[in-house]
Amino acid sequence: MNGLNLFLWAILPYIVLTIFIGGLIYRYQKDQFGWTTKSSELLEKRRLRVGSLLFHWGIIFVFGGHIAGILVPIEFYEALGIPEHIYHRIAIILGMPAGIIAFIGIFLLFYRRIRVKRIKLTTSTGDWVALFFVILAIGTGLTATTLNINSNGFDYRTTIAPWFRGLFTFHVQPELMVYIPIWFKIHILSTFALYIIWPFTRLVHAFSFPLRYLRRNYVIYKRRIREA
Ligand code: HEM
Repeated sequence: MNGLNLFLWAILPYIVLTIFIGGLIYRYQKDQFGWTTKSSELLEKRRLRVGSLLFHWGIIFVFGGHIAGILVPIEFYEALGIPEHIYHRIAIILGMPAGIIAFIGIFLLFYRRIRVKRIKLTTSTGDWVALFFVILAIGTGLTATTLNINSNGFDYRTTIAPWFRGLFTFHVQPELMVYIPIWFKIHILSTFALYIIWPFTRLVHAFSFPLRYLRRNYVIYKRRIREA
């Protein structure tokens, strides 16, 4: 294995992980009040509702698909008697629509940002950067999946998946990544770029899901009745 492969698949992931976790801690310490979605709902609501809903529902299912295909080992499916071609077909049937919905959603949000003047004016460089890398990650994921529809013997559950899990158990196996199709390499490297910018953009809001909303008391708004 050459030095480039060693760097990309054994060293770079840890550099990315360090920036990601270190960046989140730094941001939390330095800028807790800026830890927000920076919602633009007050400036424009109709287009936001459609784009945001499509994007967030799509990405939740994409996330679920990644857990099922990458974090859950292939042995689990073999134990359930699910052969590779059935798994592959289900992954395509469920994963592709989720990815396409997320892509349409993020594209609508991008379009809204360039078309609605007051939104464009309040968009920071960080917001553009975040949009770009999210679109890139989803676009390359969809491309890799589409080009892999007739898998041609390639199974990411025996290559990418154990490589990825190995990073967290310090059983690093860069050799698993050398011969995977190029679009999967591009997809994973694009997501690395996304993790690097994540802590420094509004994407941090993904880590502040408002769980307290489920338990807190209702906030009641009442219209003031004018005295006659
Ligand atoms: C290092 C982390 C990641 C790895 C190893 C990875 C790997 C993969 C693999 C193996 C597939 C093919 C799935 C299939 O054919 O069934 C895929 C598809 C896809 N990935 Fe990723 N991915 C990662 C992170 C991300 C992130 C952060 C996003 C989005 C922000 C993303 C978006 C997508 C999309 C949209 C698809 C198309 C299929 C679908 O909708 O599930 N990926 N990825």
